[in-house]
Amino acid sequence: MCGIVGVVGNTNATDILIQGLEKLEYRGYDSAGIFVLGGTENHLVKAVGRIAELSAKTAGVEGTTGIGHTRWATHGKPTEDNAHPHRSETGRFVLVHNGVIENYLEIKEEYLAGHHFKGQTDTEIAVHLIGKFAEEDGLSVLEAFKKALHIIRGSYAFALIDSENPDVIYVAKNKSPLLIGLGEGYNMVCSDAMAMIRETNQYMEIHDQELVIVKADSVEVQDYDGNRRERVSYTAELDLSDIGKGTYPYYMLKEIDEQPTVMRKLIQAYTDEAGQVVVDPAIIKAVQDADRIYILAAGTSYHAGFASKKMLEELTDTPVELGISSEWGYGMPLLSKKPLFIFISQSGETADSRQVLVKANEMGIPSLTVTNVPGSTLSREANHTMLLHAGPEIAVASTKAYTAQIAALAFLAKAVGEANGNEKAKAFDLVHELSIVAQSIESTLSEKETIDAKVRDLLETTRNAFYIGRGQDYYVAMEASLKLKEISYIQCEGFAAGELKHGTIALIEEGTPVLALLSDPVLANHTRGNIQEVAARGAKVLTIAEENVAKDTDDIVLTTVHPYLSPISMVVPTQLVAYFATLHRGLDVDKPRNLAKSVTVE
Ligand code: F6R
Repeated sequence: MCGIVGVVGNTNATDILIQGLEKLEYRGYDSAGIFVLGGTENHLVKAVGRIAELSAKTAGVEGTTGIGHTRWATHGKPTEDNAHPHRSETGRFVLVHNGVIENYLEIKEEYLAGHHFKGQTDTEIAVHLIGKFAEEDGLSVLEAFKKALHIIRGSYAFALIDSENPDVIYVAKNKSPLLIGLGEGYNMVCSDAMAMIRETNQYMEIHDQELVIVKADSVEVQDYDGNRRERVSYTAELDLSDIGKGTYPYYMLKEIDEQPTVMRKLIQAYTDEAGQVVVDPAIIKAVQDADRIYILAAGTSYHAGFASKKMLEELTDTPVELGISSEWGYGMPLLSKKPLFIFISQSGETADSRQVLVKANEMGIPSLTVTNVPGSTLSREANHTMLLHAGPEIAVASTKAYTAQIAALAFLAKAVGEANGNEKAKAFDLVHELSIVAQSIESTLSEKETIDAKVRDLLETTRNAFYIGRGQDYYVAMEASLKLKEISYIQCEGFAAGELKHGTIALIEEGTPVLALLSDPVLANHTRGNIQEVAARGAKVLTIAEENVAKDTDDIVLTTVHPYLSPISMVVPTQLVAYFATLHRGLDVDKPRNLAKSVTVE
């Protein structure tokens, strides 16, 4: 969602903030702002829109300390008044915030009578509260901040500045991500290591309900009662080149192209020198001990769970159930006697999934997080973690994380199955099969021009579309349609092909695009029957088929891969379909409207 960056004790504060915000822009991009002090004067600069708009307003803004924010609106429209940083009543205190303060209206009513607010945000109320305690009630800044933290309920990462003191930034967090970055002679705070990687690879974690006093030469961690907490720093294994676009016009295209490499990285990560699959024995045991696996996730990661279900069930002999995190956070269904919760999350920060994990931990349910981000909240708080090794995914539309999630779960399924003596698992040569997948993806990627041409004709102007498929192809259809709608704004449904005739076929009319996925030899003919039904009603059909079921008339033909892994290769042309459709419609592929990469509010 929103992104925070802060720096204390560096004469290039403005540049550091702007460059950091550019790196965080994928988290939210409806407005942004910075507050910089320590120069000849203090500066508060805000702009609606992208960071480029903000950057254009920062000529002459100099100082040594500052905080910045890129916003994804929750309370109040994207306007300059609602953009962060926000100031207290007198303007002395300045605050940026990620998250949602649940009791902000009660706070306003109870403590802030007579205060004047510029916008509608919950954040403005928080900074007024701190200002009131410091200026009206005479508390020190630290005491005022602590008192406010005891009152505020909800999720937050705060970075606070007292404009009378450029030597310190106060931060606190609860449920929203925030890290300290340790520089040479200066320090930083940030919601994502990526924004600081230019300056440092030394980081320090902050836990929920901790307050940190960050100065140029020191970092002091406390709980809300003032007890000091020791914290060691760690080195992040991020590379500056991982987060650049290189020669690509968009991150999404770069990330689509990286998928064969990611498959090979996963092979390296989960095999030993003899080529045997290796997964942490404690994780294998956790699956063996379970009588049912519950996969919890959101969006694309949820779809990756569906695409892995059959493989997990058949190889581990354990039933798999899926849950949408935002549904389960507040209402758990009746669970089996020995459940294992598997959280799938690219970012490892999704608030909806975390909500379920917190509950699972309270209930003593064992958990595994499958994530791309080591050290992320869902990784830290689950019992076990499997990493995706996909490298940073920056485009808002998830591509390589989806394929890596299925591949990582394939390693899990294979390892557990082998340990259990499951015959199918023993016969499943995963390393070989994944290499074929990598080659199949490469050959699809070499067909970009063909896909581009077909998509222009089909999707350049349409308002709606359907993806259809059966079995695994249905699961891919769900993901393919999410990808298309989130970046091209074409209303698209992923449908079980056989289910269309039970109502939804009423929406098919002359020219409606229907994209059909065909990979399963048993099901393909049935799907072809459904294609005839929609074609007879005027649909424009595009078929994507694996070679083993393909006909001469199919539009895009893919190398055949192992059925468990077909969602990985099948999804790639659909990612390209979404990419080219979006380009033809003149839209920003990497930053679709209303979305943010890491969804850290519930
Ligand atoms: C869509 C997309 C989202 C995420 C979802 C969960 O392209 O990226 O649907 O998959 O917000 O995010 P993670 O995987 O970070 O938990």
